[in-house]
Amino acid sequence: MSLRLPIASWLAVAVAWFGAVTAQVVFACQTAPPPQKNLTDVRTSLVSVPADPFGVVYALHEDVAFVALDDNLGVLDTTAFTPSLLHQIPLPVKEFGSGAAGIALTNDGRHVLVTLNTAAAIVDAAKAAAGSVDVVVGALNGTAGNSAIEITITQDNEYAFVSQEYGTNRTGYRGDIEVFQLHKPTANGSVAGTYIGELTLGDAVVGTALSPNGRYLYATSEVAVIINGTQQGALTVIDVETLKTNPSQAILSNAIAGCAPVRVIVSSDGKVLWVTARQSNKLLAFNASKLLSDPNDALLAAVEVGTWPVGLIFAKHESRILTADSNRQNYTNATAGLSVVDVQAALRGENAVLGSIPTGFFPREFAVSPNGSTILVTDYYSQQVQAVDVATIP
Ligand SMILES: *[C@@H]1O[C@H](CO)[C@@H](O)[C@H](O)[C@H]1NC(C)=O
Ligand SMILES: *[C@@H]1O[C@H](CO)[C@@H](O)[C@H](O)[C@H]1NC(C)=O
Ligand SMILES: *[C@@H]1O[C@H](CO)[C@@H](O)[C@H](O)[C@H]1NC(C)=O
Ligand SMILES: *[C@@H]1O[C@H](CO)[C@@H](O)[C@H](O)[C@H]1NC(C)=O
Ligand SMILES: *[C@@H]1O[C@H](CO)[C@@H](O)[C@H](O)[C@H]1NC(C)=O
Ligand SMILES: *[C@@H]1O[C@H](CO)[C@@H](O)[C@H](O)[C@H]1NC(C)=O
Ligand SMILES: *[C@@H]1O[C@H](CO)[C@@H](O)[C@H](O)[C@H]1NC(C)=O
Ligand SMILES: *[C@@H]1O[C@H](CO)[C@@H](O)[C@H](O)[C@H]1NC(C)=O
Ligand SMILES: *[C@@H]1O[C@H](CO)[C@@H](O)[C@H](O)[C@H]1NC(C)=O
Repeated sequence: MSLRLPIASWLAVAVAWFGAVTAQVVFACQTAPPPQKNLTDVRTSLVSVPADPFGVVYALHEDVAFVALDDNLGVLDTTAFTPSLLHQIPLPVKEFGSGAAGIALTNDGRHVLVTLNTAAAIVDAAKAAAGSVDVVVGALNGTAGNSAIEITITQDNEYAFVSQEYGTNRTGYRGDIEVFQLHKPTANGSVAGTYIGELTLGDAVVGTALSPNGRYLYATSEVAVIINGTQQGALTVIDVETLKTNPSQAILSNAIAGCAPVRVIVSSDGKVLWVTARQSNKLLAFNASKLLSDPNDALLAAVEVGTWPVGLIFAKHESRILTADSNRQNYTNATAGLSVVDVQAALRGENAVLGSIPTGFFPREFAVSPNGSTILVTDYYSQQVQAVDVATIP
């Protein structure tokens, strides 16, 4: 899972990939974020799980959520505010190895796709929720990496895009996006996929998100270039129609996105992208149309959040963003938590952090319930899933 070349040998190819770097805002890699107000009045509750929880997603209704638990897919009962673990569905780890990571629900709610090294297991959502056996109905098995993290599914459920963090020897160990065509379920419920190919990006490719109109896939690479001695990652805009047929030709533009950008989300109007630049302790906002027309000038805002932000999610009708400030290195001088960011204040360039919600160790990924009232966050090192009552967020 962690085959990596030294940054120096990787850079020769990276610079060629990224293209010329002109004047940019460069964000340093090691910053010490200021202490934040502790939002202890926000109501939260925890459930313990038997493994480090990674990705989490709700079913189409409020009652059930799915969480990646290493060898298993956890099914959470979310009818009460405090979730409880209903079932654990064994994943095909004999074939693909342990380490379930990213998770996504098809837009019809029928299937949960969970990434597993070279692959993504396809699980029948209703049967998993009911606790049936034999609920793994297929797998997507790619050839461009053994470190699959996020998975994104097109609105029509016909394609899936998987980020392979470190790629393979074929990609020079740069990360990539694998492209799969999803077939319709067969009469017995099995689902297959065809591997189309991959698009190689920078070092450590993780975060992906589709634009609401489905035309663009956005992806982050942790390292793309070194500017004046500082590593900077990239936010890449990818043309989805090209990605489906000719992946290697699908890049539309690249922008510098701070030190180690790792996740990206898009506003529902498609106009603003928000990226966590993990080692810069920043939440960055980008103008989506400028990313295409003038990527060097697309940065709209930079908000200093907590230590090493990873996941991020909108709350309260997109008036707030929560960042999962992971403190992944367990610095004794820092704490993990969820920064609460006022979106409009951030875009005006004003102080935008309203405070931090306490969490367990290494909060990583989020899910929001379909009616918006509860947000789940996986506390990876604490082996807990934490529920946050959105109505109590300032
Ligand atoms: C690199 O540093 C020099 C000297 O401080 C500065 O003039 C230049 O703008 C910097 N380049 C970038 C891309 O930030
Ligand atoms: C905490 O310590 C780390 C590692 O020594 C350092 O990089 C970081 O800047 C420090 N953070 C704060 C808030 O002082
Ligand atoms: C915030 O509050 C929580 C819960 O009371 C506490 O465990 C934590 O240490 C506090 N954090 C800071 C930075 O004061
Ligand atoms: C997945 O694909 C790889 C590469 O083609 C192959 O070696 C491996 O056997 C496949 N695994 C399964 C379980 O199909
Ligand atoms: C990549 O690694 C595989 C498996 O070890 C090997 O079969 C293949 O020849 C290598 N390809 C290149 C281009 O080095
Ligand atoms: C289900 O159908 C597919 C395609 O017709 C077939 O390949 C597969 O073996 C079947 N699976 C089972 C469990 O019968
Ligand atoms: C994005 O840039 C375009 C110009 O390319 C401008 O019209 C638009 O208002 C900007 N959007 C935001 C949210 O700043
Ligand atoms: C959302 O769903 C939860 C769980 O069913 C329920 O308790 C809550 O009242 C709902 N909230 C809204 C705003 O409908
Ligand atoms: C951080 O601390 C937690 C809780 O003590 C522990 O489970 C985890 O392994 C630690 N991680 C690292 C990278 O030190």
